[in-house]
Amino acid sequence: MKYKVLQELKDNMGRYVSGEMLSESLGVSRTAVWKHINELKREGYKISSSTKKGYLLEDTSDVLNGNELSLGLETKLLGRDIIYFDSIDSTNTYAKKIASEGCYEGTVVIADRQTAGRGRLGRQWDSRGGKGIWMSVVLRPHIPLADIQIITLAASIAVVDAIKEATGLDTGIKWPNDVVLDGKKVCGILTEVGSEIDCINYLVLGIGINVNHQAEDFSEELRNTAISLKRYADEKGSFPGSLKYEGMFNRSGIIKKILFELERNYSKINRGLISEVLEDWKKRSVTLGREVMFTTRNSDYTGRAVDITDDGRLVVQCSDGITREILSGEVKIRGMLGYV
Ligand code: BTN
Repeated sequence: MKYKVLQELKDNMGRYVSGEMLSESLGVSRTAVWKHINELKREGYKISSSTKKGYLLEDTSDVLNGNELSLGLETKLLGRDIIYFDSIDSTNTYAKKIASEGCYEGTVVIADRQTAGRGRLGRQWDSRGGKGIWMSVVLRPHIPLADIQIITLAASIAVVDAIKEATGLDTGIKWPNDVVLDGKKVCGILTEVGSEIDCINYLVLGIGINVNHQAEDFSEELRNTAISLKRYADEKGSFPGSLKYEGMFNRSGIIKKILFELERNYSKINRGLISEVLEDWKKRSVTLGREVMFTTRNSDYTGRAVDITDDGRLVVQCSDGITREILSGEVKIRGMLGYV
């Protein structure tokens, strides 16, 4: 019933709807309407109440909950089961647990806040409440373990495309799967696998996106290397005409587009169309053609990133004349994320 009240308010967005009208059209008492309104307010909906005029839904621009996420979701597999938490240690840790216990493929775990968000290479991931997208998707791909990098690449393509569709902003991919905006990191992806010798039981794609952070929400350490969609938009202030930006981005809208794009790319992988995914990655790459630095077995190398292999390794023509393929670790790109 609570969401029926919400729907009435959404249908009359920006206008007052009287308690009497709501109670009549939904067949419940005015006290019941009032209780539902209070519950909706607790979920984050901005509703003004006036004794004379009734209730007015101001906007739903950044409400994140299971209801907003399921409304209008256009996927068949991803997000059919959505588990939402106001706060959790790490969505990846939870997703791995339920994946190993046999949850459905496509289950999505989302939290408004993570208290122990994890990044790649054992790092922490700052996941404050009300600001970002912190989510994990459980997949059960039928591909050899050696090829899983392709799924991570597919996820980064989905994030770039979803951000473009939802906000109009152009981001790019720093190998293997960091999404960058204006030379700073806006999204990181942590892939974790549960497998036997060569068989993947489950794969958890953990996606973290800085959405509505203000400059002061980033620690001193991160301020030069991390950015949010909002911070960029506030600084640039220009937007493609058709897209609405009123100081906040709608996290639910972006999540739904990511799930849609990810499902599309995942289906390509399952149909063996890996080369299409690689081409899409190359088009969005901000790594190929750039001067890079990386470390392998305690030696530092510099060179030019020239290609990506079928299993997702970065091919670098090193300045010592040798061409090397990198499978994991970190690559620095000159002019990006603080590498000068
Ligand atoms: C990186 O280091 O770039 C990867 C960051 C991944 C962060 C996301 S947020 C949702 C999910 N849960 C986690 O604990 N980490 C990932």
